[in-house]
This record gives sequence, structure tokens and C-alpha cells, in this order.
Amino acid sequence: MLERLETLPPDPILSLGQAFEADPRPHKIGLSVGVYRDESGLTPVPAAVKAAERRLVECQTTKAYIGQRGAPEFLKGMQALVFGEDFARADALALTQTAGGCGAVRLGAELIAAARDRGAARVWLSRPTWGNHVPLLTSAGLEVAEYPYYDRASSTLEFTAMMACLEAATPGDVVLLHGCCHNPTGADLDAAQWQAVAELCRRRSLLPFVDLAYQGFGEGLEADAGGVRRLAETVPELIVAVSCSKNFGLYRERVGLLAVVADGADAARAAESHMLALARTSYTMAPFHGAGLVGLILTDPTLHASWVQELDSMRARIKQMRTALAEALANAIPERDFGFIARQHGMFSFLGLSAEQCARLRNEHAVYLLDSSRINIAGLNAAAIEPCAAAIAAVITD
Ligand code: LMR
Repeated sequence: MLERLETLPPDPILSLGQAFEADPRPHKIGLSVGVYRDESGLTPVPAAVKAAERRLVECQTTKAYIGQRGAPEFLKGMQALVFGEDFARADALALTQTAGGCGAVRLGAELIAAARDRGAARVWLSRPTWGNHVPLLTSAGLEVAEYPYYDRASSTLEFTAMMACLEAATPGDVVLLHGCCHNPTGADLDAAQWQAVAELCRRRSLLPFVDLAYQGFGEGLEADAGGVRRLAETVPELIVAVSCSKNFGLYRERVGLLAVVADGADAARAAESHMLALARTSYTMAPFHGAGLVGLILTDPTLHASWVQELDSMRARIKQMRTALAEALANAIPERDFGFIARQHGMFSFLGLSAEQCARLRNEHAVYLLDSSRINIAGLNAAAIEPCAAAIAAVITD
């Protein structure tokens, strides 16, 4: 039977990371996969994570199952991180630990599939969005559609067009939003725009589904949760998929959270029962280790302070790299405006290059980026800025 299977093409993002690792050229620059790197090119294990790991090894007395929802300290800490310390709708909240942010998006999609009315409910995705959103949602049986989000020509948000499109969506449809640090464009909604989206969702009975994968990488932990919190104050129902991969540096540990704000406590308990049942039918419950670390960090003041400080410095380094690249490109290609790179948020920006130019950057200059021209700014360091700008200039002007 299995001989019927045809080999699938490799994942477009992850395969570029592997190609980069295998590239023997010493001057290579890896800007493809969305992983934070420090100035020396390392993806660090934060000191707070190391300390929490030591503590966990010392103190853990059993490997017996934890509750199906996940580690209690993790759930408590994550609730405060995402929704704030005194979340007014805590009674209407259903939380479950997931296997990474992807696991949360997928579980949220399955919950929507279980709840939708006779196959209705399209999920509206920003154009463009993270490449894996489409398979994560469609493999749960959901239909997807696109709303305009980013104008490549002007490198700015298409907010008016976005709102006009969503205004015409069918009540009951779902709108997938990036909580901060939009992947792949780096172009985020401001506070007034979040409020307008929240009001539109309420008025048109649309269900917001927020992917919050980079909290702390944009403007800070509190500011980056602003969109989610505005929605939670405004709409009756909200789904949030949270990743701890980037802000806690826990990529391979697969730590995430699915949070549902329901229309009342009874609805939240019902949603939670479905979340747990859906998890039970595929992996029973999420792994503990990484969530145990996050739980320790979020509930211990010393570990928490150390983590926040390290996260602040990661964000500062990304901003520094943004400014440096924008300046280097302004010098190398003065006729083209790359100022948007310094204004955008998080790890990603689009350079506005063609797929052919991106292939030339990889093949001729060992600069790895996605075919869409998305770059991971956090893959840069001071030494890579000038060569990277020169390579971009070469493929634009040649
Ligand atoms: C990315 O967008 O590069 C990251 O989120 C890694 C991934 O899984 O695609």
C-alpha cells in the first residue's frame, strides 16, 4: 500500500535552512529560517532556561503524566503573559498546552472545524502570510481565503483594502491575524488599527484567530500583546495560538499554548472539553519539559527578570540590525528606498526582489533568503551587513 505514496516536495522554509547548513562557502549568510541568532551566529539557550533546566533536573521526582491541560504553572504564567495579570474574562478562558505554536494553530483549526455550522466558516488569511498557515488550516478541513494586507510596491500595509475585504466576509468566518511581528512582512497593525479590526469582527460576527509567535520581539512583551488584549476586550469569542519557540529560545522543545476566550464560562468549559478530546485523539497531551521550564521562569522573580533582560537585548539587536541594513542598502542602492526595513518589527522583512534575484543571491553570493525575498533580520551580524547589502545591490543592478 505505501508504495502508492509519491515523494512530496521538501518544506520550502526548512529545506533552505538545511541547504544553508550544507553550504561549504565560509562567507555564507543565513537569512532564511526564522530562528534568532546572536552576533556570533549562535541561537542561544537563555541563561534563565539553563537555570530552570538545572532546577528541574534537581527537583523533579516523577515522570508520571501531568494533567491533560498541561503544566499548571505554565498555564498560569502564560495567561498572565498574554492576557495580563488581571484578565477580566479569566472565567471564560480555556487553555491547553500544545506542541509548539504550530500545534496550537492546528488544534485551534480542529476546534473551529468541530464547531462550524454545516461546513461553513472560511478562514481569512493575510496576503501574504506564513507559508505553513495554509497546510495547517486546510489539513484540518478548513477552507481558506485571503484578505489584502501588504503592498509590495510601497512596502506598506494595505489597511483600507484589508478592512473593505473583511467587511464583506460572511458572519461566522474566521480571521487569522498575526499578534505582532508579522511573518513574513514585518508590517504590524498599530493600536488604532487593532481597535478597528476588533470592532469590525464584533460588528460582523467574525471570529478572530491570533497567531502570537513573537511576543517580545517587536516592541516589548506588553506592547506586543496589545492586539490580543484589545480583541479580548471587544469581541465575544477569540482564539489565540501562542508559541514559546522564539521568545524563550525553546524551538526544539516544542512549547505552545492554545487559548480560547469564549462567550461565558459554560462555553469555555465546552470548548476546553473539545480541545482535550482533540488532543487525546492524536497525541494525548503535549510534552512537559519545555513547558515546565517556561512555568518556572514565569513564576520565579529572579528567573523572570533574567529572561526579560535577555529578551530585551535580543529585540535591541534585531532593531540594530534593521537600522544597519537599511543604512547599508541606502548607500549601496541610493535610487531605491529600503527605509521600511528600519521601521518594521520582529525578525522578518520582504526585500521586494524577484524569485530569480533571490536564487542568484543564494547561488552566486551565498546569501540565503526565501524565494518571496523574506529575510530573517536576526540572521545578520555586524560583519555580514556590508557584504549582504553589496550582494543585494549586485542582483538588483546587474
Ligand atoms: C519561519 O517562518 O521561518 C519559522 O516560523 C520557522 C518555520 O517553522 O517555518
